[in-house]
Amino acid sequence: MKKDRVFAEKKDRVEPFVFNREVTAVFDDMLKRSVPLYNESIQRQAQMTLEFFQEKTKIYDLGCSHGNLGILIAGQFKNTPFSMIGVDSSLPMIDKYKSRLGRVVNSLGIVLVCSMLEDIVIENASVVLINLTLQFLDLKKRDGLIKKIYDGLLPGGVLLVTEKILHTDSPINNLEQEFYRRFKRENGYSELEISQKRDALEKVLIPESPDVHKQRFLNAGFSSFDIWLKWFNFASMIAIK
Ligand SMILES: C[S@@+](CC[C@H](N)C(=O)[O-])C[C@H]1O[C@@H](n2cnc3c(N)ncnc32)[C@H](O)[C@@H]1O
Repeated sequence: MKKDRVFAEKKDRVEPFVFNREVTAVFDDMLKRSVPLYNESIQRQAQMTLEFFQEKTKIYDLGCSHGNLGILIAGQFKNTPFSMIGVDSSLPMIDKYKSRLGRVVNSLGIVLVCSMLEDIVIENASVVLINLTLQFLDLKKRDGLIKKIYDGLLPGGVLLVTEKILHTDSPINNLEQEFYRRFKRENGYSELEISQKRDALEKVLIPESPDVHKQRFLNAGFSSFDIWLKWFNFASMIAIK
């Protein structure tokens, strides 16, 4: 696994974060060292996908990156046919995902699309996953995307969303941010790396509170909601139609 050193050297100017070739090359190390409980979260999402999948329907993995979640989902289905559309706006990520598919046993059902989430049609879906990606969407576009997903899901269909979150109560928010910095330090990131990455993400990754997410799901029409996994400022949520 190539080590993430994207923010290790002092930069004269910190540019907004992008999922380019440099990030794609070190993405697994970045996820491992900056997303608490990442493996647990995607493993359970893959299992829930199998649980909620309805025959002859589609799975959508929105912001699929280079396929960690999609490949786990394919593994859950073993030899059972399924249809999954992976969408990502980063061509380096999609290219890397494609290059990994040759080694995936049950990969025939996976179609990869390089597109903005806002531009895709969701239809005949039983499972939609948005793992660590809604947070990158323009705030004004989030209600519309969740409503579009709701409309494209069949009854009993599920939406799984994992996000970096904010707490509205500031002492708790400060605690959560401090424990997140601690997690990064424990994983070998320097203070310079932590602060340069925070600057790069500042206007690009806009977290919201779990209450805001919940209200958006309920407004769209979802009838059941839960936070099934939480670690300080990260939450994995489920909404059922
Ligand atoms: C943190 S990564 C997602 C990680 C991935 N879901 C996983 O499970 O490993 C966010 C991804 O969302 C993509 N992305 C961000 N905004 C997007 C948009 N508006 N449309 C499509 N993809 C987007 C980025 O290119 C990036 O690959």
